[in-house]
Amino acid sequence: MVQKPWGGRFAGETAKTVEDFTTSLSFDRRLYRQDIAVSIAHARMLGRQGIIAPAGAEELVRGLEEIRAEIEAGEFDFDPALEDIHMAIETRLIAKVGEVGRKLHTARSRNDQVALDVRLYLAAEVEILIEALAELRRAGARLARRHLDIILPGYTHLQRAQPILLAHHFLAYDEMWRRDALRLTESLARLKVSPLGAAALAGTTFPIDPQFTADQLGFPEVFRNSLDAVSDRDFLLEFLAQAAIIMVHLSRLSEELILWSSAEFGFVALPDAYATGSSIMPQKKNPDVPELIRGKSGRVAGHLMGLLMTVKGLPLAYNRDLQEDKEALFDTVDTVQAAVTLMTGLLEQLEVRPEKMAAALKGGFLTATDMADYLVTKGVAFRTAHEQVGQTVRHAEAQGKELWELSLEEIREFAPLAQADLFDWLKVENSVARRQSPGGTAPERVREALERAEVELGLNPYEQKM
Ligand code: ARG
Repeated sequence: MVQKPWGGRFAGETAKTVEDFTTSLSFDRRLYRQDIAVSIAHARMLGRQGIIAPAGAEELVRGLEEIRAEIEAGEFDFDPALEDIHMAIETRLIAKVGEVGRKLHTARSRNDQVALDVRLYLAAEVEILIEALAELRRAGARLARRHLDIILPGYTHLQRAQPILLAHHFLAYDEMWRRDALRLTESLARLKVSPLGAAALAGTTFPIDPQFTADQLGFPEVFRNSLDAVSDRDFLLEFLAQAAIIMVHLSRLSEELILWSSAEFGFVALPDAYATGSSIMPQKKNPDVPELIRGKSGRVAGHLMGLLMTVKGLPLAYNRDLQEDKEALFDTVDTVQAAVTLMTGLLEQLEVRPEKMAAALKGGFLTATDMADYLVTKGVAFRTAHEQVGQTVRHAEAQGKELWELSLEEIREFAPLAQADLFDWLKVENSVARRQSPGGTAPERVREALERAEVELGLNPYEQKM
C-alpha cells in the first residue's frame, strides 16, 4: 500500500471502493505536461523568493524534467491509489530526489494547482481550435469560389422561397464560423489568468511572487481573489458554451448535407471517403459523418448542462465536485476538434450537382416576390401587389404553369399594371442580380463578401479565381 501524501492525519487505510470512486488519475493524466510545467515554474519561484534554497529548486526542476521524460517514454507507473496526476507526479519526485522533493508543495495546494493546469491545457486547445476553424472557413471559402455562379432555391420553413447563390449559402456558415473563432479568441484573455498562489483558499504565509510564476507559463495576468481563484470554473462553462454553439452550427450544416445528399434533393454527393455503406442494402451510401456530427452536438450541449449543474450549488471555495469538470472538458475538446476537422475534409471534397439545383428552381414560384416588387415600381402598394401576385400564382398553379409561362393578358386579369417588361423580373438570374442590398445575394455582394473572407483567411482571391 502506498503512503498517501496526506496520510499523516489518518490511522486507517482508504477503502478500495473509495479509492476507485475518488480517483481521477485515469483521465487527469492527460494534464501531466501542464502539471509538470506548473511545478517547474512554482519550484523556480520558491527558489527565487528564498522560500527554498536555489540549489534545491534546481534539483526539483531536474527531477520534474526526468519524470516528464519517463511519462513520455511510457515508463511511468500511474498507480490509481495515488488519486490524481498531481499526487502521482509529486510522489514520484520524492522517490527520485528524496527529501528536497517534499518541499515542492510549499505555498501551494492542489486546488490552485489543478485550476492552473486546466487553464494551461485549455488555452493551448483553444488556440488549436481557432486554427482549425480558420481551416474550415478556408474550405468553405474555396467551395464558394468554385461554385460562384450557381443558383439554387433559398428556403424558409424548408419551403422554396427565393433564388440565391450557392456561394451566399456557404458564406452564411462562414459568418457563423468567424463568430465562433472570435468568441474563442476573446475568451483567451480570461483563460490566461493564473490562480497559482491562492493556495488552498486563503493565500499563503510565504512571500510568494504569483506574477513570476504566471510569466514563466506565458500567462499575462494573475488572480485577484484567492477564494475565487480556486473555485471559479467560469472559464470552462464559457468554453463548453462556445463548443456547444460550434457544434450546433456544424449540426445545422450537417442536417443540410444529409438532406441535400438524399435522392429527393440530390444537390450534392458526399465524397466516398466521407460516406459509409449499409451492411444489408448494397446500393446505399450513407451520410454517417454529418449524422454523427449532428448527433454529437447533443453530447457537447449535455456537457455544458452537466457542468452548470455541478457548479450551481457549490459553496466557496474548492469542493471535490469540481473534479467532475475534467471528463466533460476532455470529451468536448476531442469531439469539437474532430467535428471541425471532419467537416473541413468533407467540404474540400464535396461534389455539387448544379443541374439538380437548377431543376429545383422550377415549380416553386420563386420569383413571385420579384413580381410584387415589379408592380411596386409601377406604383402599386406592396400589400396590394402581394395580393395580385398571390392570385396570379393560384391561377398558374391551377394551369400547371410557371409564372413566366403565362401570357401577359392572363397576368393582367390579376395585375392590371403589368407590362411586357415583367417577364424580365421573373427570371431567376435577374431575381438574384437585383438583390444588391447590403449583405444580399446579388453576385456583386457575394463576390465582395467572398473576397473579404478570403483576405481575412489569407487566401488570395486573385489566385483562387484562376
Ligand atoms: N483531483 C482534484 C481535482 O481534479 C485535484 C484537487 C483536489 N483537491 C483536494 N483538496 N482534494 O479537482
